[in-house]
Amino acid sequence: MASPVLSNMPHHVAIVMDGNGRWAGKRFLPRIAGHKQGVTALRHCVKACVKRGIGVLTVFAFSSENWNRPHEEVSGLIDLLARAVTSEVAELKQNGVRLHFIGDRLRLSAAMQTAFSNAEDTTASNTGLVLNICFNYGGRWDIAQAAQKVADSGQPITELALDRALALAHVPDPDLLIRTGGELRISNFLLWQSAYAELHFTDKLWPEFDDAALDEAIAVFRSRERRFGQTSAQLMAHESAQVPSQPQQTSKAV
Ligand code: IPE
Ligand code: IPE
Ligand code: MG
Repeated sequence: MASPVLSNMPHHVAIVMDGNGRWAGKRFLPRIAGHKQGVTALRHCVKACVKRGIGVLTVFAFSSENWNRPHEEVSGLIDLLARAVTSEVAELKQNGVRLHFIGDRLRLSAAMQTAFSNAEDTTASNTGLVLNICFNYGGRWDIAQAAQKVADSGQPITELALDRALALAHVPDPDLLIRTGGELRISNFLLWQSAYAELHFTDKLWPEFDDAALDEAIAVFRSRERRFGQTSAQLMAHESAQVPSQPQQTSKAV
């Protein structure tokens, strides 16, 4: 039997960074201490992705539903992000990272919105890793805002038109979607874009997610056969004829 067609490195990795609260709880620390450690884990993960030549990293930092948490935790998370945006931007720039904030900014303070725009502008000319930070993001919000944009333009609502109006229109769809923290759900992340992402769930809590955990996720991804609706035999025929085997992928930048 011929061996299956194995995937290459993922170009776009998306991560639901879950488990900060449990990480803190295990250590009898306040939940915010877990979120702080989560920022450290993200800093390491960004560097690891740069090193491995990954093109795009999209992380879920705060969901539209996370507003329902206790006020103290919500304001702690917002403070943490505000501080991280300012303190990390120089190093991100140095590492060639291009930063994007994805989500509904209208509910955020004017100062926060300015901090986001400044960080995006500062890193706009970078050509390395594209880092999308999803903050006040929800997949349903994204689909609804995209549909509204297309409707307002008077164009027919097609898959391609929606795709171009979504918040991640600047990058191709994720290849690998990782969720830490052991839950087997998507929690309103990239609902549209993850149609053909390979899913990887790990029990590791986000603050514990290290290089080895990333390499394990990549190895699992590479062992998967991505068929995009085709059969294995078709993929193998494509492979030997060296014809692209992803007929459903839309053409997007990056
Ligand atoms: C993920 O960690 C970070 C955010 C949702 C902001 P959690 O805070 O959800 O951690 P757990 O799931 O309670 O452990
Ligand atoms: C998903 O984690 C959102 C982020 C990681 C930002 P949650 O902890 O909010 O998800 P649920 O509530 O367990 O589904
Ligand atoms: Mg959680």
